[in-house]
Order: sequence, then structure tokens, then C-alpha cells
Amino acid sequence: MPIRPFEQHIPRIHLTAYVDETALVVGDVEIGQDSSVWPMSVVRGDIQSIRIGARTSIQDGTIIHVTHDSRFCPGGQPTTIGNDVTVGHKVILHACTIEDFCLIGMGAIVMDKAIVPSRVTIGAGSVVPPGKVLESGFLYVGSPVKQIRLLNERELEFLEYSAQNYQRLKDRHRAMHVPSEATSAPTSVSPETPPPRTRTRRSTIPKRR
Ligand SMILES: CC(C)(COP(=O)(O)OP(=O)(O)OC[C@H]1O[C@@H](n2cnc3c(N)ncnc32)[C@H](O)[C@@H]1OP(=O)(O)O)[C@@H](O)C(=O)NCCC(=O)NCCS
Repeated sequence: MPIRPFEQHIPRIHLTAYVDETALVVGDVEIGQDSSVWPMSVVRGDIQSIRIGARTSIQDGTIIHVTHDSRFCPGGQPTTIGNDVTVGHKVILHACTIEDFCLIGMGAIVMDKAIVPSRVTIGAGSVVPPGKVLESGFLYVGSPVKQIRLLNERELEFLEYSAQNYQRLKDRHRAMHVPSEATSAPTSVSPETPPPRTRTRRSTIPKRR
């Protein structure tokens, strides 16, 4: 089961969302309607919360984590991702904020307290440094990122297309897996639902007579 509680926190995953069976979602995590978490991704909300909005895709091998409460970061720092966001393959999002309709390119890293406002594209392999606040509507690339230019109409349109495309793709994947699971195991866990019991195998050791 890729969805695990941590202490009192149980991931809350919308029934229409898709979490691949090789992904891992832990603790204080919310995943919204029609969002998707693809193979080998980790969404670890153990020491602060992670919020993922609707129609957002977290693609293969991505790692999302948070920062804990300490004198270096009082209160800790959650990660918040908005609606209709495309998070490409092998991205790291750490204790940061990504607003609606962004595209975070493959292999990019967004660090603590950085804010990526709505309708921004981050180029593949780029690094958004800690605390950096970007400007809406722009393309950013590089390590550290530099503002390159305003996104054109076609690129802005692509941000919406990309979210819709991944929504359709997750429906095709769900169709492969969810119906058969639905009869035997929950595909989502809500606060009202107790943590899933781990299956215990019957002992194969013969009883002593
Ligand atoms: C950033 C990106 C959108 C640029 O697209 P583009 O239309 O080629 O942009 P431009 O041609 O205006 O490039 C601007 C400059 O940035 C450079 N550049 C492009 N992508 C770059 C990247 N990822 N990192 C560093 N520099 C990059 C270009 O070489 C160009 O440099 P130059 O002006 O010195 O020649 C694209 O390269 C990219 O990284 N897309 C991300 C795709 C992705 O990861 N999708 C998620 C998977 S589903």
C-alpha cells in the first residue's frame, strides 16, 4: 500500500485522484480531485503538511518534502502546490509554494520558501534557490533560475493543455487498476477511515501436537 499514515496524520486523497502503486504518500498530505502521482514518486508529509490541488500531476520519480519546526525555521515550512500544475519527471519540491497552472520542468529543484506564482514555466534542470519569489507569466531557466521572457499565448495555452492531458492519462491508468482493487482494498484514505490493516500471513509452521 503506497499510502501510509504517520503518527496522527493520514493522507487524504480524493477518490478521483490516482496514486501509482509504486509511489509513496506519507502523513499529512492532501491530494485533490483528478490529480495524479506517478511511479516512484515520494510525497512525504511527516514533519509538516503537503497540499496538492486539483488536476495536478506529480510525475515519475519526483520527491516532495517539507521542513521541520526548529529555531532555524520556526513553525517549519509546508509544501503547497495549486491546481492544474504539471510537475515533470524527477523534480524536487522542498518546502515551497507552487501556484496554479505552472509547469515545473524535468529534474528541476525548488527549494525552501521559494514561491512560484501562477502561470510560470521552469525549464528542465533549473534550480529555484531558497526564498526566491518569481513573477507570474514568465519563463525561468538556469541554476539559479533567471527570468528569460514572458510566456507567449501558445505557451500559456500549453500550461492548461498539459494539466488536461495528464488528467486524461491518469483516467486511462485508473481504468487499468482501480476497478479490481475497489472491491478488495480502499484506493484512498480519509481521516474518517482508520489506517489500513496490514495483511498478516497465516503461519506455515506446523502446529505441535
Ligand atoms: C525552458 C523551455 C520551455 C525553453 O523552451 P524554448 O522555447 O526552447 O525557449 P527558448 O528558445 O526561448 O530558450 C531560451 C534560452 O534558454 C535556453 N534553455 C532552454 N531550455 C533550457 C533549460 N532547461 N535550461 C537552461 N537553459 C535552457 C535556450 O538554449 C535559450 O538560450 P539562448 O537564448 O542562449 O539560446 C524548455 O527548454 C524546457 O526546459 N521545457 C521543460 C519541458 C519539461 O520538462 N516538461 C515536463 C515533462 S512533462
